[in-house]
Amino acid sequence: MALAETQTDVKTFTAAELYQRIVADTPTFIVDVRNEEDFGRWGVEGRNSLEVINVPYFDFIEDEDGSVAKVPADRNEVLVVCAKEGSSQFVAEILQSHGITARFLEGGINTWGNLYDVRPVESNAYGQIIQVARPARGDLSFVVVSQGQAAVIDPLRHIDHYLNVLNTHQAQLTHIFDTHAHADHISGGPALARKTGGRYFMHAYDAIHPLDMLPARIDYNHIVDGQKFQVGHYTIEVIWFPGHTLGQVNYLFTDPDGKSCLFTGDGIFLKSFGRPDLGGRGEAWAPIVYDSIYNRLPPRINKDTLILPAHFSVMNEDNGQGVFAETYEWVLAHNDALKYAQKQDFLDFVLSHLPKFPPEYVEIKRANAGLLIPDEEKASELELGKNICALSD
Ligand SMILES: [Fe+2]
Ligand SMILES: [Fe+2]
Repeated sequence: MALAETQTDVKTFTAAELYQRIVADTPTFIVDVRNEEDFGRWGVEGRNSLEVINVPYFDFIEDEDGSVAKVPADRNEVLVVCAKEGSSQFVAEILQSHGITARFLEGGINTWGNLYDVRPVESNAYGQIIQVARPARGDLSFVVVSQGQAAVIDPLRHIDHYLNVLNTHQAQLTHIFDTHAHADHISGGPALARKTGGRYFMHAYDAIHPLDMLPARIDYNHIVDGQKFQVGHYTIEVIWFPGHTLGQVNYLFTDPDGKSCLFTGDGIFLKSFGRPDLGGRGEAWAPIVYDSIYNRLPPRINKDTLILPAHFSVMNEDNGQGVFAETYEWVLAHNDALKYAQKQDFLDFVLSHLPKFPPEYVEIKRANAGLLIPDEEKASELELGKNICALSD
């Protein structure tokens, strides 16, 4: 990774380098110099070896020595993060002048928020599965390539990343699958369909805004439970999995040898599952989630089916190499949220573990229904921070 030199010899680091360090669990110490409120809203999260402290920029101006003293002296290197870049450069220079090796994040925290990471999940004679992640948000999406054709599942807003993958694999995008109308991020599905001519699919139940009760104004092809598609060697089956939304579906891809993978969207995650309250009806939809998890899904997949969800909550859910995919057998053994076979126990658990309801989620659903067309600034403001689509502790 090339490091840019600044006039003052303080070096920078990039969001991509930061993510590589997090994936590799390289000991990393971050000083976030945004104000307390912005820091409290969201920031860099990683795994065990990542330490983050908040020392606001203005503290360094008002009390330089006191602020520098808050940075442990035994760290090899300090990475400084701020909103846009300027104040982190300033603080990195101060730290260097106190004998502490420091670098600052190029482009500020938004470049971390907008970082995309592309890496292979699986590759065999029938095709490739590629994960396209937006790590700061915990968002996961996928491209499946086979025989020159491609399907994209739950594409995120910055569609160039998918176009690059298609270009790399010389594949034609034929199917764009949204698992549901997302509340936490703006879908790239309609834009990808316009750009590539691929067909955009979602369930008709999700083409009504659940709170406004207004029909979507987007071009989409509706799907039903059991519907089948073919992309290259893969047969794809739609499995209706309502509860997080009424139109949530899973897409089951099966290769000619019978090996399958399931794109679950906000159905089952590796260690949790999609909350039932984002449509405003948590108590009514929680029993529907129960039926999806315990009755609808199990007969349709097998223990070796690879589960590929639309989110992770913490970095440690990965396989140690930045890929978020495990077998259904693994998920059943490790997902504590799936251990409530008795319906009432399940409902008690779900309804006592609902996180806060982000107000911007109502607007994101409007954007995904085509009822609101946000500009870039508004879109990034709506998507700020990490998704809150799973139940929480
Ligand atoms: Fe969702
Ligand atoms: Fe989500």
